[in-house]
Amino acid sequence: MSGPAHPSRPARPSGPAPRCRTLTLLAAALVLAAGPLTAVGGRPAAALGNAVAATPPMGWNTWNSFGCSIDEQLVREAADSLVASGMKDAGYDSVIVDDCWFDPRRDARGDLHGDPERFPSGMKALGEYIHARGLKFGIYQTPTDRTCAQRGHDYPGATGSQGHEQQDADTFAAWGVDHLKYDWCSEAGTLDEQIAAFTRMRDALRNTHRDIVYSINPNSYHADKTGATYDWSAVAHLWRTTEDITSAWDEHKADNSYGMSVMDIVHLNGRLGHQAGPGHWNDPDMLEVGVPGMNETEYRSHFSLWAQMAAPLIAGNRLPAMTPAVRDILTNQAVIGVDQDGLGRPARIAVDSDTELVTVRELAGGDRSVTLTNTGDTAATVSTTAAGLGIAEAPSYTVRNLWTGAAGSTTGTLAAGLAAHETAMYRVTPGGPDDR
Ligand code: GLA
Repeated sequence: MSGPAHPSRPARPSGPAPRCRTLTLLAAALVLAAGPLTAVGGRPAAALGNAVAATPPMGWNTWNSFGCSIDEQLVREAADSLVASGMKDAGYDSVIVDDCWFDPRRDARGDLHGDPERFPSGMKALGEYIHARGLKFGIYQTPTDRTCAQRGHDYPGATGSQGHEQQDADTFAAWGVDHLKYDWCSEAGTLDEQIAAFTRMRDALRNTHRDIVYSINPNSYHADKTGATYDWSAVAHLWRTTEDITSAWDEHKADNSYGMSVMDIVHLNGRLGHQAGPGHWNDPDMLEVGVPGMNETEYRSHFSLWAQMAAPLIAGNRLPAMTPAVRDILTNQAVIGVDQDGLGRPARIAVDSDTELVTVRELAGGDRSVTLTNTGDTAATVSTTAAGLGIAEAPSYTVRNLWTGAAGSTTGTLAAGLAAHETAMYRVTPGGPDDR
C-alpha cells in the first residue's frame, strides 16, 4: 500500500455542539476475583531502564493545536499555564516541543540549534525556563534525514538525526532534555532497518547517562505501520501504535491510515495491551481533549479509554483558552489514577459491538476499572456482568463512578443509561461496605 498524503499540520474539523450528558447508574455489581493478582511478567522492559516511565508519561505537546506555528514565547506560556491551571499538580509534568523548533541548517560542526528567529534564546534556555517551573523538557527529532514537516515540504532543510545520532543525543542531554519524541517520517526502510535506527538512538541516549524518556513512532509516512505489528518494548519506553490521531469520534477506518479517530484507535490499540507494562507502553497518540472536533461527552470517553489502555496522557489543547469543563476532564484524579495504576496492566476489551464497547482493567491491590461506552448514535443502556467481564463472582462489590463520584454497593449487573458516545467509568472493589 502506498503511504497516504501526510500533511505535517493536521486539518481540524469543527466539532458538533456540546450535548447534555445524562448518566444513570441503574444497578451495579461487579466482581472481582478475590485472590492476589499475578505480577506483570513475560515482557522485557525497555533497555534504557524503567524508572523514567514506570507509569505512562504525562505532559503537554505543541503539535495538536499549533503544528509548525510555534515559538519560545508560546512554549513558555504553555509551561506557565500547566502550572497555573493545576495540570501540573494533576500529573502533567512535561512540556514537549514537537516538529519545527530547529534551525533548518546544522552549523559547521554539524550541531543542531533552535530556529534563530522563533527560538532566539536557544533551546537550553527554554529547557531552563521549563525546569524552573518543576517541569520536564521534551523535544522532537527523526531517525531519518528529514522530520515529518521537512518530508512534507512544510519546513525547509533536512536535519534528521541520521548519521548524527550520538551528536544529537549529546546536544539534547546538554540542553537538559528529559523526553525525546523520535518519529520515523519516511516511506523507506524495512522493519529491520527501523529496529536498527531506533536502537541506535536508544543506545546514544543511554551513552549520555541522562534519564530521557524515549518515545518512538515507526508509523509516520511508512506503509507498514510497524508500530502496531512489532513489539518495541525492548527498544523504547513508548511506541506509537497508530497513524496520527485527529479530533474525531469515529471515522470507521478499516486500516491504520492518517487521521485516526478515537474509536479507530481504540479498536486497534485496545487489542495490544498484552505487550505493555511498567517502562514500556503502547502509545495510541496524544490527547485531543479540548481540541475542536468532538464534544464534551466524547472528550470524556476519549480520556476514559486512554486511561483504560494505560496510554501516555499528553494533552495538546490550547491551555490558556481551556474551558473549566475541559480542565475538569483532563484533571480528573480518579481517572488519572487508573491510567497511572502501578500494576501497569492495560484493559482488555470484553465487548465490542456496533453500539457497545466494554473494557475491564486489573488494578494494583485487586480493584478493577470498567468502562461502558455507548458507541451508537442514539441514547442507550449499556450493561455488563461479572461473567461478561470474565471475572469470578463474589457476594458483593463496592462500585464508584469515576466521573460523578457516586458510590454504591450492589450485586448483579453494572448498567448505565448513556447518551450517544458517552462512557461510564467505574472503579470496582471486592466486598460491600459490610465487609470492609
Ligand atoms: C508525525 C507525528 C505527529 C507529529 C508530526 C510532526 O505526523 O506522528 O505526532 O509529530 O509528525 O510533523
